[in-house]
Amino acid sequence: MADQEEWSSNANEALNISFVQAGQQSPVKLSTFHPKFTYPIFGEEECIFGYQGLNITIRFAAYDLLPNLSVKYDKKFKTVNDTEALNIEETLKEWMPEVSFEPSAEFNHRIQYDTAASNWKPPGELVESYQSRGRNFEIWCADLIDPAVRQLIDHIQILISLFIEGGTPIPLDDADWSLAKWRIFFVYEKSTSLASSSTSPYSLVGYCSTYRFNTYSPSVRTSPSEGKTPLTFTLPADATTSTKPTSQETTDPNTPPFSLSTLPFRARISQFLILPSHQSHSHGTRLYQTIYTHFLHTPACTELTVEDPNEAFDDLRDYCDYTHLLTTPTFPLLTLPTTLPPTLFAKRPGTRVPTASLLPLDRLASLRHGHKLAPRQFARLVEMHLLSTIP
Ligand code: ACO
Repeated sequence: MADQEEWSSNANEALNISFVQAGQQSPVKLSTFHPKFTYPIFGEEECIFGYQGLNITIRFAAYDLLPNLSVKYDKKFKTVNDTEALNIEETLKEWMPEVSFEPSAEFNHRIQYDTAASNWKPPGELVESYQSRGRNFEIWCADLIDPAVRQLIDHIQILISLFIEGGTPIPLDDADWSLAKWRIFFVYEKSTSLASSSTSPYSLVGYCSTYRFNTYSPSVRTSPSEGKTPLTFTLPADATTSTKPTSQETTDPNTPPFSLSTLPFRARISQFLILPSHQSHSHGTRLYQTIYTHFLHTPACTELTVEDPNEAFDDLRDYCDYTHLLTTPTFPLLTLPTTLPPTLFAKRPGTRVPTASLLPLDRLASLRHGHKLAPRQFARLVEMHLLSTIP
Protein backbone atom coordinates (compact mmCIF):
# COMPACT_ATOMS: atom_id res chain seq x y z
CA MET A 1 0.00 0.00 0.00
CA ALA A 2 1.36 3.40 -1.02
CA ASP A 3 2.31 5.90 1.63
CA GLN A 4 -0.85 8.03 1.62
CA GLU A 5 0.91 11.24 2.63
CA GLU A 6 3.69 10.93 0.09
CA TRP A 7 1.12 10.74 -2.74
CA SER A 8 -1.54 13.09 -1.38
CA SER A 9 -1.90 16.76 -2.27
CA ASN A 10 -3.97 19.41 -0.57
CA ALA A 11 -6.53 20.25 -3.26
CA ASN A 12 -6.92 23.89 -2.13
CA GLU A 13 -3.18 24.46 -2.51
CA ALA A 14 -2.75 22.43 -5.71
CA LEU A 15 -5.50 24.35 -7.52
CA ASN A 16 -4.61 27.78 -8.93
CA ILE A 17 -7.12 30.07 -10.61
CA SER A 18 -5.92 32.79 -12.98
CA PHE A 19 -7.52 35.50 -15.08
CA VAL A 20 -5.54 36.27 -18.23
CA GLN A 21 -5.55 38.64 -21.18
CA ALA A 22 -3.53 38.97 -24.39
CA GLY A 23 0.02 40.23 -23.82
CA GLN A 24 2.91 41.27 -26.10
CA GLN A 25 4.16 37.70 -26.68
CA SER A 26 1.79 35.40 -24.75
CA PRO A 27 -1.20 35.66 -22.40
CA VAL A 28 -0.45 37.60 -19.23
CA LYS A 29 -1.94 36.89 -15.82
CA LEU A 30 -3.99 39.69 -14.29
CA SER A 31 -4.53 37.78 -11.05
CA THR A 32 -3.95 34.34 -9.53
CA PHE A 33 -5.47 32.89 -6.37
CA HIS A 34 -6.38 29.63 -4.66
CA PRO A 35 -9.95 28.48 -4.02
CA LYS A 36 -11.52 28.81 -0.58
CA PHE A 37 -12.94 25.26 -0.66
CA THR A 38 -12.64 22.26 -2.92
CA TYR A 39 -14.73 19.75 -0.95
CA PRO A 40 -17.71 19.86 -3.36
CA ILE A 41 -15.37 18.61 -6.11
CA PHE A 42 -12.63 16.59 -4.42
CA GLY A 43 -14.47 15.37 -1.28
CA GLU A 44 -14.61 16.25 2.42
CA GLU A 45 -10.85 15.79 2.97
CA GLU A 46 -10.01 18.24 0.14
CA CYS A 47 -7.24 15.87 -0.83
CA ILE A 48 -6.12 14.52 -4.21
CA PHE A 49 -4.45 11.14 -4.17
CA GLY A 50 -1.85 9.88 -6.62
CA TYR A 51 0.51 12.74 -7.47
CA GLN A 52 3.69 14.45 -6.33
CA GLY A 53 4.36 18.08 -7.24
CA LEU A 54 0.75 18.48 -8.43
CA ASN A 55 -0.28 21.78 -10.01
CA ILE A 56 -3.79 22.24 -11.40
CA THR A 57 -4.39 25.54 -13.14
CA ILE A 58 -7.72 26.88 -14.35
CA ARG A 59 -7.21 29.95 -16.51
CA PHE A 60 -10.06 32.20 -17.59
CA ALA A 61 -9.97 34.81 -20.34
CA ALA A 62 -10.63 37.95 -18.28
CA TYR A 63 -13.35 39.27 -20.67
CA ASP A 64 -15.43 36.38 -22.10
CA LEU A 65 -14.34 34.00 -19.32
CA LEU A 66 -13.24 31.22 -21.67
CA PRO A 67 -11.83 28.56 -19.33
CA ASN A 68 -8.81 26.30 -19.77
CA LEU A 69 -7.61 23.50 -17.52
CA SER A 70 -4.02 22.35 -17.21
CA VAL A 71 -2.81 19.55 -14.93
CA LYS A 72 0.93 19.18 -14.28
CA TYR A 73 2.84 17.01 -11.81
CA ASP A 74 6.31 15.62 -11.11
CA LYS A 75 5.25 12.00 -10.50
CA LYS A 76 2.04 10.02 -10.83
CA PHE A 77 1.25 6.92 -8.73
CA LYS A 78 1.23 3.60 -10.62
CA THR A 79 -1.95 1.61 -10.05
CA VAL A 80 -1.40 -1.00 -7.32
CA ASN A 81 -4.14 -3.41 -6.16
CA ASP A 82 -6.94 -1.20 -7.53
CA THR A 83 -5.49 1.90 -5.82
CA GLU A 84 -4.99 4.47 -8.51
CA ALA A 85 -4.39 8.17 -8.92
CA LEU A 86 -7.52 10.32 -9.14
CA ASN A 87 -8.41 11.13 -12.73
CA ILE A 88 -8.49 14.91 -12.33
CA GLU A 89 -9.79 15.78 -15.81
CA GLU A 90 -12.60 13.23 -15.47
CA THR A 91 -13.53 14.61 -12.03
CA LEU A 92 -13.62 18.17 -13.32
CA LYS A 93 -15.73 17.27 -16.37
CA GLU A 94 -18.82 17.44 -14.17
CA TRP A 95 -17.95 21.00 -13.20
CA MET A 96 -16.51 22.65 -16.28
CA PRO A 97 -17.70 23.00 -19.89
CA GLU A 98 -16.11 20.87 -22.60
CA VAL A 99 -14.15 23.81 -24.03
CA SER A 100 -12.05 23.87 -20.81
CA PHE A 101 -10.30 20.66 -21.81
CA GLU A 102 -8.79 21.89 -25.07
CA PRO A 103 -4.96 21.94 -25.22
CA SER A 104 -3.43 24.96 -23.50
CA ALA A 105 -1.67 25.98 -26.72
CA GLU A 106 -5.04 26.43 -28.45
CA PHE A 107 -6.30 28.52 -25.56
CA ASN A 108 -3.15 30.69 -25.69
CA HIS A 109 -3.58 31.17 -29.44
CA ARG A 110 -7.21 32.11 -29.05
CA ILE A 111 -6.36 34.69 -26.36
CA GLN A 112 -3.47 36.19 -28.33
CA TYR A 113 -5.25 36.44 -31.68
CA ASP A 114 -8.92 37.10 -30.85
CA THR A 115 -9.68 39.96 -33.21
CA ALA A 116 -13.12 40.38 -31.59
CA ALA A 117 -11.63 40.98 -28.13
CA SER A 118 -10.97 44.70 -28.45
CA ASN A 119 -14.64 45.37 -29.36
CA TRP A 120 -16.11 42.89 -26.90
CA LYS A 121 -18.68 44.27 -24.45
CA PRO A 122 -20.44 42.49 -21.58
CA PRO A 123 -23.95 41.40 -22.63
CA GLY A 124 -27.08 43.26 -21.52
CA GLU A 125 -27.42 46.80 -20.31
CA LEU A 126 -24.88 49.06 -18.64
CA VAL A 127 -26.51 50.04 -15.34
CA GLU A 128 -23.67 51.68 -13.39
CA SER A 129 -20.19 53.14 -13.95
CA TYR A 130 -17.87 54.18 -11.16
CA GLN A 131 -14.25 54.82 -10.31
CA SER A 132 -12.29 53.26 -7.49
CA ARG A 133 -8.64 53.98 -6.75
CA GLY A 134 -8.31 55.73 -10.11
CA ARG A 135 -9.63 52.74 -12.09
CA ASN A 136 -12.89 52.49 -14.07
CA PHE A 137 -15.57 49.90 -13.37
CA GLU A 138 -18.92 49.07 -14.93
CA ILE A 139 -21.91 47.01 -13.79
CA TRP A 140 -23.91 45.26 -16.50
CA CYS A 141 -27.28 43.63 -16.05
CA ALA A 142 -28.62 40.89 -18.34
CA ASP A 143 -31.05 37.99 -18.35
CA LEU A 144 -29.81 34.43 -18.30
CA ILE A 145 -32.12 33.63 -21.20
CA ASP A 146 -29.63 35.54 -23.39
CA PRO A 147 -27.29 32.87 -24.86
CA ALA A 148 -24.26 35.18 -24.39
CA VAL A 149 -25.02 35.41 -20.66
CA ARG A 150 -25.62 31.68 -20.39
CA GLN A 151 -22.22 31.08 -21.96
CA LEU A 152 -20.46 33.42 -19.51
CA ILE A 153 -22.11 31.67 -16.57
CA ASP A 154 -21.31 28.25 -18.01
CA HIS A 155 -17.67 29.28 -18.25
CA ILE A 156 -17.32 30.74 -14.78
CA GLN A 157 -19.75 29.09 -12.40
CA ILE A 158 -17.32 26.49 -11.07
CA LEU A 159 -16.14 29.44 -8.92
CA ILE A 160 -19.45 29.41 -7.03
CA SER A 161 -18.65 25.96 -5.63
CA LEU A 162 -15.07 27.03 -4.88
CA PHE A 163 -15.91 30.25 -3.01
CA ILE A 164 -19.46 30.11 -1.62
CA GLU A 165 -20.17 27.61 1.16
CA GLY A 166 -23.06 25.46 -0.04
CA GLY A 167 -23.16 27.33 -3.38
CA THR A 168 -24.42 25.26 -6.28
CA PRO A 169 -24.24 25.94 -10.03
CA ILE A 170 -27.34 27.18 -11.88
CA PRO A 171 -28.82 24.33 -13.97
CA LEU A 172 -28.27 25.88 -17.41
CA ASP A 173 -30.16 23.15 -19.29
CA ASP A 174 -33.48 24.12 -17.66
CA ALA A 175 -36.35 25.16 -19.89
CA ASP A 176 -36.11 28.67 -21.35
CA TRP A 177 -39.06 30.02 -19.36
CA SER A 178 -37.32 28.87 -16.18
CA LEU A 179 -33.99 30.43 -17.19
CA ALA A 180 -35.89 33.65 -17.88
CA LYS A 181 -36.38 34.05 -14.11
CA TRP A 182 -32.65 34.64 -13.58
CA ARG A 183 -31.09 38.06 -13.95
CA ILE A 184 -27.33 38.40 -13.70
CA PHE A 185 -25.29 41.46 -12.72
CA PHE A 186 -21.64 41.52 -13.81
CA VAL A 187 -18.95 43.89 -12.51
CA TYR A 188 -16.14 44.50 -14.99
CA GLU A 189 -13.09 46.69 -14.83
CA LYS A 190 -12.78 48.74 -18.02
CA SER A 191 -9.16 49.50 -18.69
CA THR A 192 -7.87 52.28 -20.91
CA SER A 193 -4.32 50.93 -21.42
CA LEU A 194 -4.29 47.81 -23.56
CA ALA A 195 -1.30 45.51 -24.00
CA SER A 196 -2.05 44.52 -27.61
CA SER A 197 -4.59 44.97 -30.42
CA SER A 198 -6.37 41.78 -29.35
CA THR A 199 -6.60 42.77 -25.68
CA SER A 200 -10.11 43.42 -24.42
CA PRO A 201 -10.55 46.47 -22.18
CA TYR A 202 -12.88 44.40 -19.98
CA SER A 203 -11.85 42.12 -17.13
CA LEU A 204 -14.21 40.47 -14.65
CA VAL A 205 -14.36 41.70 -11.06
CA GLY A 206 -17.36 39.71 -9.82
CA TYR A 207 -20.97 38.83 -10.47
CA CYS A 208 -24.27 38.17 -8.80
CA SER A 209 -27.17 36.01 -9.88
CA THR A 210 -30.71 36.94 -8.87
CA TYR A 211 -33.91 34.97 -9.20
CA ARG A 212 -37.53 36.03 -9.27
CA PHE A 213 -40.28 34.27 -7.37
CA ASN A 214 -43.59 35.25 -8.86
CA THR A 215 -46.01 36.01 -6.10
CA TYR A 216 -49.43 35.21 -7.46
CA SER A 217 -52.30 32.82 -6.97
CA PRO A 218 -53.41 31.78 -10.43
CA SER A 219 -57.15 31.24 -10.69
CA VAL A 220 -56.75 29.39 -13.97
CA ARG A 221 -53.95 26.90 -14.65
CA THR A 222 -52.72 26.56 -18.18
CA SER A 223 -50.16 24.38 -19.83
CA PRO A 224 -47.63 25.89 -22.26
CA SER A 225 -49.57 24.37 -25.17
CA GLU A 226 -52.89 25.89 -24.10
CA GLY A 227 -51.98 29.44 -24.94
CA LYS A 228 -52.39 32.45 -22.70
CA THR A 229 -55.47 32.14 -20.55
CA PRO A 230 -55.98 35.26 -18.41
CA LEU A 231 -54.73 34.86 -14.85
CA THR A 232 -55.60 36.72 -11.70
CA PHE A 233 -53.19 37.03 -8.85
CA THR A 234 -52.87 38.33 -5.33
CA LEU A 235 -49.90 39.77 -3.52
CA PRO A 236 -48.33 37.68 -0.74
CA ALA A 237 -49.14 38.37 2.89
CA ASP A 238 -46.74 40.95 4.34
CA ALA A 239 -46.15 39.16 7.58
CA THR A 240 -43.86 36.41 6.33
CA THR A 241 -40.35 36.48 7.81
CA SER A 242 -39.03 33.61 5.73
CA THR A 243 -36.96 34.00 2.61
CA LYS A 244 -38.08 30.52 1.51
CA PRO A 245 -40.90 30.39 -1.06
CA THR A 246 -44.33 30.73 0.53
CA SER A 247 -47.33 28.76 -0.67
CA GLN A 248 -48.17 31.74 -2.87
CA GLU A 249 -44.80 31.70 -4.58
CA THR A 250 -43.97 29.15 -7.16
CA THR A 251 -41.05 27.34 -8.65
CA ASP A 252 -43.46 24.82 -10.15
CA PRO A 253 -41.95 23.49 -13.37
CA ASN A 254 -45.45 23.46 -14.91
CA THR A 255 -45.86 27.19 -14.53
CA PRO A 256 -46.87 28.55 -17.91
CA PRO A 257 -44.55 30.91 -19.76
CA PHE A 258 -46.71 34.03 -19.52
CA SER A 259 -45.10 37.43 -19.57
CA LEU A 260 -42.89 37.62 -16.47
CA SER A 261 -42.38 41.33 -16.68
CA THR A 262 -45.79 42.38 -15.37
CA LEU A 263 -46.42 39.83 -12.60
CA PRO A 264 -45.47 40.88 -9.09
CA PHE A 265 -42.39 39.09 -7.80
CA ARG A 266 -39.91 38.89 -4.98
CA ALA A 267 -36.30 39.16 -6.18
CA ARG A 268 -33.77 36.94 -4.47
CA ILE A 269 -30.02 37.35 -4.53
CA SER A 270 -28.77 33.83 -5.06
CA GLN A 271 -25.00 33.86 -5.65
CA PHE A 272 -22.80 36.86 -4.97
CA LEU A 273 -19.08 36.72 -5.70
CA ILE A 274 -16.28 39.29 -5.88
CA LEU A 275 -13.02 37.73 -7.09
CA PRO A 276 -10.42 37.51 -4.28
CA SER A 277 -8.06 39.88 -6.10
CA HIS A 278 -10.76 42.60 -5.94
CA GLN A 279 -12.21 41.95 -2.49
CA SER A 280 -12.29 44.67 0.21
CA HIS A 281 -12.20 47.43 -2.42
CA SER A 282 -15.94 48.21 -2.01
CA HIS A 283 -16.97 46.43 -5.24
CA GLY A 284 -19.34 44.17 -3.27
CA THR A 285 -20.92 47.27 -1.77
CA ARG A 286 -21.30 48.92 -5.20
CA LEU A 287 -22.74 45.75 -6.70
CA TYR A 288 -25.28 45.27 -3.90
CA GLN A 289 -26.32 48.95 -4.03
CA THR A 290 -26.81 48.72 -7.80
CA ILE A 291 -28.91 45.56 -7.52
CA TYR A 292 -30.98 47.09 -4.72
CA THR A 293 -31.58 50.29 -6.70
CA HIS A 294 -32.46 48.25 -9.80
CA PHE A 295 -35.19 46.30 -8.00
CA LEU A 296 -36.36 49.32 -5.98
CA HIS A 297 -37.15 50.98 -9.31
CA THR A 298 -38.70 47.87 -10.85
CA PRO A 299 -42.44 48.38 -10.19
CA ALA A 300 -43.34 44.66 -10.27
CA CYS A 301 -40.74 43.80 -7.63
CA THR A 302 -42.24 43.77 -4.13
CA GLU A 303 -39.22 42.77 -2.04
CA LEU A 304 -35.50 41.97 -2.27
CA THR A 305 -34.42 38.87 -0.34
CA VAL A 306 -31.16 36.91 -0.09
CA GLU A 307 -30.67 33.16 -0.23
CA ASP A 308 -28.53 31.77 2.63
CA PRO A 309 -26.33 34.83 3.22
CA ASN A 310 -23.05 34.21 5.05
CA GLU A 311 -21.64 36.47 7.75
CA ALA A 312 -19.53 38.55 5.35
CA PHE A 313 -22.53 39.12 3.10
CA ASP A 314 -24.76 40.00 6.07
CA ASP A 315 -22.23 42.70 7.09
CA LEU A 316 -22.19 44.14 3.60
CA ARG A 317 -25.99 44.03 3.30
CA ASP A 318 -26.50 45.61 6.75
CA TYR A 319 -24.07 48.40 5.89
CA CYS A 320 -25.77 49.12 2.54
CA ASP A 321 -29.38 48.87 3.76
CA TYR A 322 -28.67 50.91 6.87
CA THR A 323 -26.88 53.72 5.03
CA HIS A 324 -29.75 53.74 2.51
CA LEU A 325 -32.43 54.01 5.21
CA LEU A 326 -30.53 56.84 6.88
CA THR A 327 -31.07 58.89 3.71
CA THR A 328 -34.87 58.66 4.12
CA PRO A 329 -36.75 61.35 6.05
CA THR A 330 -38.49 58.94 8.49
CA PHE A 331 -36.00 56.26 9.49
CA PRO A 332 -33.40 58.48 11.21
CA LEU A 333 -36.19 59.91 13.40
CA LEU A 334 -37.03 56.54 14.95
CA THR A 335 -36.18 56.52 18.63
CA LEU A 336 -37.22 54.57 21.67
CA PRO A 337 -39.95 56.36 23.64
CA THR A 338 -38.54 58.36 26.54
CA THR A 339 -40.92 56.63 28.96
CA LEU A 340 -40.57 52.93 28.53
CA PRO A 341 -43.46 50.58 29.26
CA PRO A 342 -43.26 48.86 32.68
CA THR A 343 -43.08 45.46 30.91
CA LEU A 344 -39.58 46.36 29.75
CA PHE A 345 -38.33 46.57 33.32
CA ALA A 346 -40.09 43.35 34.29
CA LYS A 347 -38.31 41.65 31.40
CA ARG A 348 -36.51 38.43 32.22
CA PRO A 349 -33.81 37.07 29.93
CA GLY A 350 -35.45 35.51 26.91
CA THR A 351 -38.80 37.33 27.30
CA ARG A 352 -39.77 39.62 24.41
CA VAL A 353 -41.20 43.08 24.87
CA PRO A 354 -44.03 43.62 22.35
CA THR A 355 -42.56 45.91 19.70
CA ALA A 356 -45.96 47.59 19.29
CA SER A 357 -45.52 49.12 22.71
CA LEU A 358 -42.24 50.78 21.65
CA LEU A 359 -42.58 51.83 18.01
CA PRO A 360 -45.19 53.07 15.53
CA LEU A 361 -45.69 49.78 13.69
CA ASP A 362 -47.83 51.20 10.91
CA ARG A 363 -45.09 53.69 10.03
CA LEU A 364 -42.49 50.96 10.15
CA ALA A 365 -44.57 48.69 7.91
CA SER A 366 -45.01 51.37 5.25
CA LEU A 367 -41.29 52.20 5.41
CA ARG A 368 -40.42 48.54 4.95
CA HIS A 369 -42.83 48.13 2.02
CA GLY A 370 -41.71 51.33 0.38
CA HIS A 371 -38.08 50.24 0.51
CA LYS A 372 -38.81 46.62 -0.44
CA LEU A 373 -36.83 45.17 2.45
CA ALA A 374 -37.47 41.65 3.76
CA PRO A 375 -39.17 41.61 7.19
CA ARG A 376 -36.33 40.00 9.15
CA GLN A 377 -33.71 42.24 7.56
CA PHE A 378 -35.81 45.32 8.26
CA ALA A 379 -36.22 44.29 11.91
CA ARG A 380 -32.40 43.94 12.19
CA LEU A 381 -31.93 47.44 10.78
CA VAL A 382 -34.48 48.95 13.15
CA GLU A 383 -32.78 47.20 16.06
CA MET A 384 -29.35 48.43 14.93
CA HIS A 385 -30.68 51.95 14.69
CA LEU A 386 -32.44 51.91 18.05
CA LEU A 387 -29.30 50.58 19.71
CA SER A 388 -27.32 53.42 18.14
CA THR A 389 -29.76 55.97 19.66
CA ILE A 390 -29.23 54.78 23.24
CA PRO A 391 -27.03 57.43 24.86
N1 ACO B 1 -17.60 52.56 4.77
C1 ACO B 1 -17.52 51.63 5.74
N2 ACO B 1 -17.51 50.32 5.50
C2 ACO B 1 -17.61 49.93 4.24
C3 ACO B 1 -17.71 50.82 3.16
C4 ACO B 1 -17.70 52.20 3.47
N3 ACO B 1 -17.80 53.14 2.52
N4 ACO B 1 -17.80 50.12 2.00
C5 ACO B 1 -17.74 48.83 2.36
N5 ACO B 1 -17.64 48.72 3.69
C6 ACO B 1 -17.46 47.51 4.47
C7 ACO B 1 -18.41 46.41 4.31
O1 ACO B 1 -19.50 46.42 5.18
C8 ACO B 1 -17.46 45.25 4.66
O2 ACO B 1 -17.19 45.26 6.03
P1 ACO B 1 -16.17 44.27 6.77
O3 ACO B 1 -15.07 43.88 5.81
O4 ACO B 1 -15.66 45.10 7.89
O5 ACO B 1 -17.00 43.11 7.21
C9 ACO B 1 -16.20 45.59 3.95
O6 ACO B 1 -16.23 46.98 3.92
C10 ACO B 1 -16.03 44.96 2.61
O7 ACO B 1 -16.90 45.57 1.71
P2 ACO B 1 -16.60 45.44 0.19
O8 ACO B 1 -15.18 45.79 -0.06
O9 ACO B 1 -17.63 46.19 -0.55
O10 ACO B 1 -16.84 43.87 0.01
P3 ACO B 1 -16.21 42.91 -1.08
O11 ACO B 1 -16.12 43.58 -2.38
O12 ACO B 1 -14.97 42.28 -0.54
O13 ACO B 1 -17.36 41.79 -1.16
C11 ACO B 1 -17.99 39.60 -0.42
C12 ACO B 1 -17.72 41.06 0.00
C13 ACO B 1 -19.11 39.55 -1.42
C14 ACO B 1 -18.38 38.81 0.82
C15 ACO B 1 -16.68 39.07 -1.06
O14 ACO B 1 -15.68 39.08 -0.09
C16 ACO B 1 -16.83 37.66 -1.63
O15 ACO B 1 -17.23 37.51 -2.76
N6 ACO B 1 -16.47 36.63 -0.84
C17 ACO B 1 -16.44 35.24 -1.30
C18 ACO B 1 -17.82 34.72 -1.69
C19 ACO B 1 -18.89 35.01 -0.67
O16 ACO B 1 -18.70 34.79 0.52
N7 ACO B 1 -20.03 35.52 -1.18
C20 ACO B 1 -21.21 35.79 -0.39
C21 ACO B 1 -21.94 34.49 -0.15
S1 ACO B 1 -23.59 34.72 0.35
C22 ACO B 1 -24.47 34.81 -1.13
O17 ACO B 1 -23.95 34.52 -2.18
C23 ACO B 1 -25.90 35.25 -1.06
